[in-house]
Amino acid sequence: MTTRTAFGDVAILVPAAGMGVRLGPGQPKALRELAGEALLVHAVRNLAAAPSTGLIVIAAPADDVDLVRDLLARFDVVVVAGGATRQESVACALAAVPLDFDLVLVHDAARCLAPPELVESVAAALRAGSQAVIPVLPVADTIKRVDDAETVVETVDRSVLRAVQTPQGFRRDVLAAAHASAAAQHTDDAGMVEAMGVRVTAVPGDDRALKITRPFDLAVAAAVLASVPAAPDTPPASADSPNPPSPANPPSPASSPSAPES
Ligand code: CTP
Ligand code: MG
Repeated sequence: MTTRTAFGDVAILVPAAGMGVRLGPGQPKALRELAGEALLVHAVRNLAAAPSTGLIVIAAPADDVDLVRDLLARFDVVVVAGGATRQESVACALAAVPLDFDLVLVHDAARCLAPPELVESVAAALRAGSQAVIPVLPVADTIKRVDDAETVVETVDRSVLRAVQTPQGFRRDVLAAAHASAAAQHTDDAGMVEAMGVRVTAVPGDDRALKITRPFDLAVAAAVLASVPAAPDTPPASADSPNPPSPANPPSPASSPSAPES
């Protein structure tokens, strides 16, 4: 189903077709379990709970499209086959978004605990006029540049560095142009947009939007989940929602990055 049935004005693309090689042997990462549910179920539950969400499109592993549809049957989502790279998977999902969505967010299934508030703050920055928006956190570790022999070349000034999360938000035409013109593979969508010379705005990220990459991250996510209640299972807000997103109904702010510590 690719018709627009919900009230929210934002389409969210969820690249979920990766194999999770760094997580070790097993199912594709989005299908691995955290507290008894697939990472993708956690991700979709959190996205669907955001009032701005009008459509969710999942780019699933090509061999698992039917399985993912069944897994997410209780949510109002569109599932398409992803591609060989993250960038291709995002392009596959973008192609399924009806043209009446002007605002598009891209969110890694691997960041399955990103809270609905983060969707709202990225969407709010887009509505306020930004072309492209990324959630960021200050870098906590000291960062050093090394050479091929692992000899330290310099200590980098971390005060100007940010760790980048998803959901990343874009005006749809900007994201579509970036994908149409991308000459290389980028690790995130904002990278493609930057390469086009479009200004990208940073907003405060959220620790809960951590990316599950290695087994240790799964353990961290389990601890986060145990300490923070999950969002309830909700479809995207319906047209008669009593609380639609609007400039007069701003989202709650995400946690602010604090001053770097040593
Ligand atoms: N992704 C995707 N299609 C691909 C590769 C990655 O949709 N061909 C998605 C992943 O499912 C994940 C997000 O992009 O939600 C970020 O990628 P990453 O964390 O690297 O996940 P994997 O590629 O699955 O992990 P690995 O690189 O360890 O195999
Ligand atoms: Mg990968």
